[in-house]
Amino acid sequence: MQHFSIAAIPGDGIGPEVMAEGLKTLKKIEELHGGIHFSIDTFDWNCDYYLKHGKMMPENGLDILRDYDVILLGAIGAPTVPDHISVWELILPIRRAFQQYINLRPIKLLRGLNSPLRYKAHDDLNFVVVRENTEGEYSNMGGRLHENTPFELAVQNNVFTRYGSERVIKYAYSLAEKRPKRRLTAATKSNGINHSMPFWDEIVREVGMHHPNIKTDIYHIDALAAYFITRPEELDVVVGSNLFGDILTDLGAAIVGGLGLAPSGNINPEKNYPSMFEPIHGSAPDIAGKGIANPIAQIWSISLMMEHLGFSDIGDLIVSSIEEVLLEKNVSTPDLGGKNTTIEFGEAIHQQMTKMSMNSI
Ligand code: NAI
Ligand code: MG
Repeated sequence: MQHFSIAAIPGDGIGPEVMAEGLKTLKKIEELHGGIHFSIDTFDWNCDYYLKHGKMMPENGLDILRDYDVILLGAIGAPTVPDHISVWELILPIRRAFQQYINLRPIKLLRGLNSPLRYKAHDDLNFVVVRENTEGEYSNMGGRLHENTPFELAVQNNVFTRYGSERVIKYAYSLAEKRPKRRLTAATKSNGINHSMPFWDEIVREVGMHHPNIKTDIYHIDALAAYFITRPEELDVVVGSNLFGDILTDLGAAIVGGLGLAPSGNINPEKNYPSMFEPIHGSAPDIAGKGIANPIAQIWSISLMMEHLGFSDIGDLIVSSIEEVLLEKNVSTPDLGGKNTTIEFGEAIHQQMTKMSMNSI
C-alpha cells in the first residue's frame, strides 16, 4: 500500500464546491486501485479566515504544509478582501517557499467538446504552457511614494535571474523532448522590454543549443497571442514568464472550452517540497453558492497530481473518463450549455471512472 498525505485548501466561492468533487475523485482512486491510500487534512484558510484573524493563513502555515506530499487547492478570492492580499498572502507564498517554479498548464481540446475556433480540429489543439512561477513580473520589489498627492507614483520591478530563467527553460525543453512535435515556443517582448526580455531570449538560445532536435521559435507575446487563435497546431510546449504565462493560459483555456475545464500544477520538479495542484480559474463570485460550477478543472488537476506522483495510468483514466462523459453529452454544467449541477457532473465522471477502470488500471 502506498500512502500519500494531502493538504486540501478549498478556499472561497466555488472553491469548496469543486473541491468536494475533487475529494470524491481521490476516494474513487482509492476504491479502484486498492494499493493507494490518501490521508487528507483540510484547511479553512480563505478570505473568511482573513476577516477573523487578519491573515490568510496562520504564522506557521508554510511549516504546516511543508511535510505533505502534495497540496490541493480550490480557488481563493472574495469581494470582501482585496485580491492582492488574498493572492499575495496565500498562493504566492506557497509557490515561492516550496520552489514550485514550474506552472504547468495543459491546453488540450477534450473529445466531446467544441472549440470556438471553428476551423480547428481536435488534434490542432493540444499543447502545454510552462509558466515561470516564482519571479518575473510578479516580484514583490517596488513600492509607492507620495500617496494621495497629485504626484504620487508606483514602481513595480520585474525580476529575471539567470538561475530562475534557466531552470524553467530547461524544464520546458526536457518536456518538449518527450512530446511528439518536438517544438518549443518561447514568449518574449524584447522589442519593448529592452533589458529583461533580451536576457530571457539569450537564455532560451543557450539552453536550446543543448537540444538540437527541438525546433525553437521565439515570438513576441502580442504575435503569439494571435497565433494561439490562428496557428495553435504549431504549438507544442510554450514557455513564458510569470505574467505572459498567466495571460496566455486564460486565452488557452478559452480556445479549449473555457475556464471551468483548465487545470494547473505548481510543480517543484526536484520533489524537495510539496507541489500544488489547482484549477486555473478563480472563485467565480458570480456563480458561487449556486452549485453549478464546472468541477472538471479541479478533477483534471488531480490527474496532473497523479502523474506527478508516478501514476500516469490513473491520470489518463481520469481524463478519458471526463472525455467519455463529454462525448455522451447527457450531463454537463451551464458553462458548457447543460443544466446539471456540480455534484451531478462530478458523479457522472466518477461513475465513468468505475466503468473504464476495467481496462485501464
Ligand atoms: P474567475 O476565474 O473566478 O471567473 C471568471 C469567469 O469564469 C466568471 O464568469 C466565472 O463564473 C467563470 N468560471 C470560472 N470558473 C468556473 C467554473 N469552474 N465553472 C463555470 N464557470 C466558471 O476569475 P475572476 O472573476 O477574475 O476572479 C474572481 C476571484 O478569483 C478574484 O478574487 C480573483 O483574485 C480570484 N482568482 C483566484 C485564483 C486562484 O485561486 N488561483 C485565480 C484567478 C482568480
Ligand atoms: Mg490567471
